[in-house]
Amino acid sequence: MALAIELKGITKRFPGVVANDDVNLAVEQGEIHAICGENGAGKSTLMKILYGMQAADEGTMSVNGTEVKFTSPADAIAAGIGMVHQHFMLAGNLSVLENVILGAEPTVGGGIIDRADAKRHLTEVGAAYGLEIDPDEFVEELEVGERQRVEIIKVLYRGAKILILDEPTAVLVPQEVDELFRNMRELKADGATILFIDHKLEEVLEIADTITVLRQGRTVASVKPADVSTGDLAELMVGSELPTPETTESTVTDDVALSITGLTVRDADDRAVVDDVSLRIRRGEVVGIAGVEGNGQTELVEAIIGTGRPETGSIELMGNDISQQSVRHRRSNGIGYIPQDRHEEGLLLESPLWANAALGHQMKPPYAQGIWFNRQGAQSTTEHIRERFDVRTPDIHVAALALSGGNQQKLIVGREMTAEPDVLIASHPTRGIDVGAQAAVWDHIRGARAEGMATLLISADLDELIGLSDTILVMYKGRLVAELDPASITPRDLGSYMTGAEV
Ligand SMILES: Nc1ncnc2c1ncn2[C@@H]1O[C@H](COP(=O)(O)OP(=O)(O)O)[C@@H](O)[C@H]1O
Ligand SMILES: [Mg+2]
Repeated sequence: MALAIELKGITKRFPGVVANDDVNLAVEQGEIHAICGENGAGKSTLMKILYGMQAADEGTMSVNGTEVKFTSPADAIAAGIGMVHQHFMLAGNLSVLENVILGAEPTVGGGIIDRADAKRHLTEVGAAYGLEIDPDEFVEELEVGERQRVEIIKVLYRGAKILILDEPTAVLVPQEVDELFRNMRELKADGATILFIDHKLEEVLEIADTITVLRQGRTVASVKPADVSTGDLAELMVGSELPTPETTESTVTDDVALSITGLTVRDADDRAVVDDVSLRIRRGEVVGIAGVEGNGQTELVEAIIGTGRPETGSIELMGNDISQQSVRHRRSNGIGYIPQDRHEEGLLLESPLWANAALGHQMKPPYAQGIWFNRQGAQSTTEHIRERFDVRTPDIHVAALALSGGNQQKLIVGREMTAEPDVLIASHPTRGIDVGAQAAVWDHIRGARAEGMATLLISADLDELIGLSDTILVMYKGRLVAELDPASITPRDLGSYMTGAEV
């Protein structure tokens, strides 16, 4: 039987980086094939090439034994390939049905959309693959796992027999991962071929028939799960054991660094998105916030750093009420901030790295000398950050947009940690960065914690949350609904709290 997918000698270069370097990939029909590798290894690039979103510089591709050349995703879809991206691409204000048929609407005479036919087809597709969903529900009302199901149905609706899922488990709690894996097995039983990207090794070993490992753009191995351990996979992925976020002894003191009382934030519809939240973080303590995205974490963070306006509540930093202060004052008074969206909030993309390193800290040494901006001080500090945080760049004068996401993140983390804040608000601090950088970020947080830094950690990585935190608070529908001890909680139990099952 012909291979479902065969990629040979795929090379893709971006300025300053070879994302894929002579990559080979062979996927059998009807198998679940995992693409494994740390952040930046070239997994998404390879899948985008296969899906016709990007053109390879070199190499050939075959689908079901026939050589293909795709110039757009439409070509890939016509060849029976569908892709669900790392970041969902659904319109929240449309129904499930509208989202699924968008761009593939069946029409009756005169171009009128045949909704009844579309709904029938959607229901058939869902039933055939065990993916249940209400076609009339609005996407914004759906949980993350359900949205993902809509994305998968959307791909199947277009007739895909080969599915590409880019990091589908990254956004799910353990219970939802179980459900996704059930769906994947059912799809496979019905003859689909699934290619999925994942870097959580236990998951890969559980579900995959074959695992291909990429490292720095190259294929390093293609193995069967029965033949390898998680340790072997880690070795293949990064050349060593994987670092862990584990902290050992407690450094928690009695001094409260950040104290929040009765904080309520309302959205434009007057809903309390942060609902009467109170919390304390002591010097030397890491308080982790667990929660499915969209349960008020973003608004809580905005209220603390000063970009959001709470309705009621007080925020005290080292005993001083800062709730009326500007963002700049809060930052210069000792709040460090690693934003979840580095493009929106973290960087001036057009400016050089050294200017970005000074961002938010321009008024203080080493970036300022008296009232003057100290270009030399800024540049030598940036060199220092580059070295300590392994920011990979030709030099510190290139624009931030020239850096990969992981390297941008390292620059931001380096900037914030170098300012030695009393309180660090870390929103997904290691999302999207490579293993080495992740270990460095953990080290820096642990080190600063030992020196008395108080940290509010928001993370979707449950291992990170459990490993680094001294206390875990669960945020659900705007409220803090549970306080848990990381020493005794498992990711699975945490998942139950996060989805409201335990509340
Ligand atoms: N559009 C792009 N422009 C420049 N560099 C890119 C682009 N897309 C990916 N890269 C770089 O290519 C490398 C591989 O990225 P990617 O395929 O996204 O890795 P992975 O999905 O394994 O995390 C990274 O160094 C990344 O920064
Ligand atoms: Mg990726």
